[in-house]
Amino acid sequence: MKAVELIRKKRDGSPLSKGEIRWLIEGYVGGEIPDYQISALLMAIKFQGMEDSETASLTEAMAHSGEMLDLSFIKGFPVDKHSTGGVGDKTTLVLVPLLAAFGLAVAKLSGRALGHTGGTIDKLESIPGFRPGLSKEEFLSLVKRFGLALADHGDDMVPADRLLYELRGVTATIDSLPLIVSSILSKKVAGGARGIIIDVKTGAGAFLPRIEDSRRLARSLVATGGRLGRKVAAMITDMSQPLGRMVGNALEVKEAISTLNGKGPGDLEELCCQLGAELILLSGEFLDRKQAVTALRGRLRDGTALAKFRQLIGNQGGDVNIIDTPSLLPRAANRIEVQATRSGRVAGLDALSIGRAANLLGAGRFTKEDEVDPAVGVELLCKVGEDVKGGKPVAILHINAEENAKQAMDLVRDAYKITEKGAAPPPLIRERIGCRE
Ligand code: URA
Repeated sequence: MKAVELIRKKRDGSPLSKGEIRWLIEGYVGGEIPDYQISALLMAIKFQGMEDSETASLTEAMAHSGEMLDLSFIKGFPVDKHSTGGVGDKTTLVLVPLLAAFGLAVAKLSGRALGHTGGTIDKLESIPGFRPGLSKEEFLSLVKRFGLALADHGDDMVPADRLLYELRGVTATIDSLPLIVSSILSKKVAGGARGIIIDVKTGAGAFLPRIEDSRRLARSLVATGGRLGRKVAAMITDMSQPLGRMVGNALEVKEAISTLNGKGPGDLEELCCQLGAELILLSGEFLDRKQAVTALRGRLRDGTALAKFRQLIGNQGGDVNIIDTPSLLPRAANRIEVQATRSGRVAGLDALSIGRAANLLGAGRFTKEDEVDPAVGVELLCKVGEDVKGGKPVAILHINAEENAKQAMDLVRDAYKITEKGAAPPPLIRERIGCRE
């Protein structure tokens, strides 16, 4: 085979075969096909799209480009969840122990923050001592013994995604549906889960802000997962305003602990229970969503989910005392209040601006090499639909450095749209795709 022939084939609109796609991916990861040819191929895919069968072949080839986890030793049904990224989205921290408390096996691989959205691994690293870098043997052994482990993607897994993602970033080919789908699903397939729920965010703070794009992505993820023999369901959920009230690494761990204690913000608890219920339905444990949600809420109230979180943290070297004493988590040196510009009710709270403000304070990264500050972030005292009083605080910035504080403050203040009548909180779950009825 010749790469140039396959690039031409794709450029002219003909589908590539499974063998051709595998050959291209293996050749690229093996260093035999250069960046410039794969760049051209990516652009051809961006313009011509891919048939469903091609997207599935690409996903499979990428998943097999490195180590694959084999979870077949697990007695239960191994499940996984993925979020397309949000502001204040700490659902993984709650959902992993919650599902394990329910008896499902959760072998979760997560990533770090890049852009305005947070990353689960950065959040967990705010817990003193926590070790996200586990060997494959250690990771599988924890899942086998305790039913849960949460680690970062090692360099050995899905190298094709890492290489392609970097190339996409510099060739204007990030926003291609088949490339997004194969990137997301290849990591899930390599992770060994049989049942996968995907939380596709929509709204200002989402990777794809427009609902039509979120819907197309959700449909393609479900269809491609099905072709690869996985049970995949997707929910399109609101990211016009942040999830919960805390944005920033240690702040979000604190909020996750409250939620695992049954005392978290309503939207976060609801989303965790709805995502979890879908996985329970996929696993066949329960047939009724309402029943599954009630069972999960019970695990948040009776302490079993929190006990699983304690086990997860302890197993991976973290200080479990943070659970009873969250003040042991890193705390910022200063707090600055952001005041409401007028009295009224919150009509909008722009998630993108809040994410950017948290990043400016140091909670996220502008480049892959940046260090995150675990302690800083934004605490939202008011959300959409709530009353505010002019001059009274609507948010608190947790800061360690004066640098950028003024800019962050302006962003947070401007993120609040306050009107006389305000608006009702946006529906949390906009659509379900591939979910059980
Ligand atoms: N998330 C991913 O993992 N990959 C993409 O291409 C886009 C979002």
